[in-house]
Amino acid sequence: VQHIGVLTSGGDAPGMNACVRAVVRMAIYQGIKVSGILRGYAGLLAGEMRPMDVGSVGDIIHRGGTVLRTARCKEFFEEKNQALAAGKLKAAGIDALVVIGGDGSFRGAQALMGHGIRIVGIPGTIDNDIPGTDYTIGFDTAVNTVLDAINKIRDTATSHDRTNVIEVMGRRAGHIALLAGLGGGAESILVPEVSFDIDEVCARLMRGHERGKLHSIILVAEGAGSAVEIGKRIEEKTGLETRVTILGHIQRGGNPTATDRIWASRMGAQAVEALLRGQSNIMLGVRKGELIEENLDKALTERNGLDEELYRLAGVLSI
Ligand code: F6P
Repeated sequence: VQHIGVLTSGGDAPGMNACVRAVVRMAIYQGIKVSGILRGYAGLLAGEMRPMDVGSVGDIIHRGGTVLRTARCKEFFEEKNQALAAGKLKAAGIDALVVIGGDGSFRGAQALMGHGIRIVGIPGTIDNDIPGTDYTIGFDTAVNTVLDAINKIRDTATSHDRTNVIEVMGRRAGHIALLAGLGGGAESILVPEVSFDIDEVCARLMRGHERGKLHSIILVAEGAGSAVEIGKRIEEKTGLETRVTILGHIQRGGNPTATDRIWASRMGAQAVEALLRGQSNIMLGVRKGELIEENLDKALTERNGLDEELYRLAGVLSI
């Protein structure tokens, strides 16, 4: 490996900057050239890249977002564009690429491998929905952001004796909802992985209400349904005064937590070391608290199911 490129792709996630910093600094430490590619695959296709030096990643470890910027690029799934992108990398002398993003980004990366580019993927998405790893960069920060929001909503829910329905992100996965719901003491957590019955959710609310509980928090993963609809049905069925909050993109921003910064730094550094060892077609990940290297195919084929144990526990503790 002579020259490493690094890009962030798909939805941004807090901790991506710490990861870019680690890739750049480790490459320089190892005496390898490193370039940043702007705006993910969209920027790659447009040839937007710049050499990175030690100072180029100064003062970013604590910032959310990604200084390389990012994009969701549909054109990249066309074969002719993949060949074009590989050509741009080769013309710049880049023979290896570190891709920080989600599964769509890894699929794009695999296509580049067919054109002789070495690839290491780093899981970066708040959704934590990538198979082969227990953790993705940004997930911890997003869960903490949701917890902070739950705390605030709880204050007003208690004062007004209301039921508050909160919708969180996660695409087709319920990981954010589950962890934030467990940590935030939600009465019900609705996730796409587990089917639910609105009558059962309401019955649960009423049981709590009859026991003297005056306020409730219901957490809805966006993949499980619309919080607005669910809130309406709850109010109709129970007569309890209900309010709805959709947290939206605040979940994607903010300073990364210590957990996100540290894993992002470790993964970024290891990506460079793996490339220098001759590795390619791998994704870095975390399993049982250990940093691991996993075949990229695994990250693209298997499913990352919800932690059923945690889901059951959340149900037991919120009776
Ligand atoms: O994948 C991250 C994520 O924030 C999802 O949770 C959400 O469904 C999606 O991205 C939103 O995408 P966009 O920012 O492109 O609207």
